[in-house]
Amino acid sequence: MKLPILTISLIVTFIPFSLLSNTATSTPVYDIDGEPLTPGSGYYILPLIRGNGGGVKNYWNGSCPYFVAQANSEVDRGRPVQFYPVNPDEETIPLSTDLNIEFYDLITVCIQQYVWQLGDPVADSGLRYITAGGVLENPGDETVNRWFKIETHPDGDYKLVYCPTVCETSRPVCGDIGVLSQGGTRFLGLSDKPFRVFFARKLDD
Ligand SMILES: *[C@@H]1O[C@H](CO)[C@@H](O)[C@H](O)[C@H]1NC(C)=O
Repeated sequence: MKLPILTISLIVTFIPFSLLSNTATSTPVYDIDGEPLTPGSGYYILPLIRGNGGGVKNYWNGSCPYFVAQANSEVDRGRPVQFYPVNPDEETIPLSTDLNIEFYDLITVCIQQYVWQLGDPVADSGLRYITAGGVLENPGDETVNRWFKIETHPDGDYKLVYCPTVCETSRPVCGDIGVLSQGGTRFLGLSDKPFRVFFARKLDD
């Protein structure tokens, strides 16, 4: 008499697992050479549209933490970053998946601050800038502002978005990462206009 109930509960238990393993085989993000991005490798984040600034880098605006900004000069490739997907077993960087973004090789006077995080809305403008203000930590509501995703732009290239799914209780805002120009600096932050990018692997030195 007990057997059918056990069988049903086994089926119910297995369905979510099969869904989970499907997400593990999601589409990888590719670099400009057609190679999938891999966790821990260094990549330059470069603008798709030329003639309007260079790569993404850390920007010192007078105090810690660094801001994340686009270099003003088109020949400046910026500073490479490393991507760490929420699932540490991923061998490539999946599209549309929560990940941490960390500046590569950033030796900084700001102690333990090299992971990107979305700042709180600025008092007057309500704008939300990205800073390099965090460290790698486990997903959860307290680290919600450190989880970004790479998405395809409708035209086939990539954009960065802030829309974490790692958190169970909080429901953060979702939005594209774009350029917020201020006083001649091209800060990155939440914007209606996505910053269209491609990724170039840092060659080993
Ligand atoms: C950068 O610093 C200047 C001068 O302190 C300040 O006016 C400006 O708001 C800062 N920019 C950001 C994005 O915080």
